[in-house]
Amino acid sequence: ARLVVLISGSGSNLQALIDACADPAYGAEVVAVGADRDGIAGLDRAATHGIPTFVCRVPDFASREDWDAELTARCQAHAPDLVVSAGFLKLVGKEFLTTFAGRYLNTHNALLPGFPGIHGPRDALEYGVKIAGATLFIVDDGVDTGPIIAQVAVPVHDDDTEDTLTERIKDVERRQLVEYVGRMVRDGWTITGRKVTVP
Ligand code: GRF
Repeated sequence: ARLVVLISGSGSNLQALIDACADPAYGAEVVAVGADRDGIAGLDRAATHGIPTFVCRVPDFASREDWDAELTARCQAHAPDLVVSAGFLKLVGKEFLTTFAGRYLNTHNALLPGFPGIHGPRDALEYGVKIAGATLFIVDDGVDTGPIIAQVAVPVHDDDTEDTLTERIKDVERRQLVEYVGRMVRDGWTITGRKVTVP
């Protein structure tokens, strides 16, 4: 199966997917990596592995729709079976969502529907929850609202800072992402209403 991975940052989730794909039994290949900005470590990781990259910056386009159309086309050019947002910090538009409906995944560093948005671990810590975690879901037109594929929990420690909790979450988040993407590409998945089933 062909994966296009979208990133905005360090790309540690991307790296986990690249590493998993090194085993032919995993059943997938990262065919391209896209980003919404230059100069991020994730793009270097892709280049190191000889994976084609592209950058689509919102300010380079006349409108958000034009940006969305270009992002869609750049992804589509690689004929992906799945598009994975791994720390991609832009909300995609209608054209992208229609083109990749049901096969655009995102990983979020909180237990949704709690703590959506870009500060999941910080918000969870401030709220005082004792269990945090990560959610893999299918992207819809809301912010972190799509049908949930899988979730994994981690404890919050009394002495946690935003950084320590973020790292504890990212560790399980990467493993969840690799496990479920692998299962989905090998065995498929079904979406019935909000219910996602991965055999
Ligand atoms: C992930 O924890 C994701 O949930 C959050 O950003 C992180 C991406 O990190 N939105 P990386 O770029 O994969 O290292």
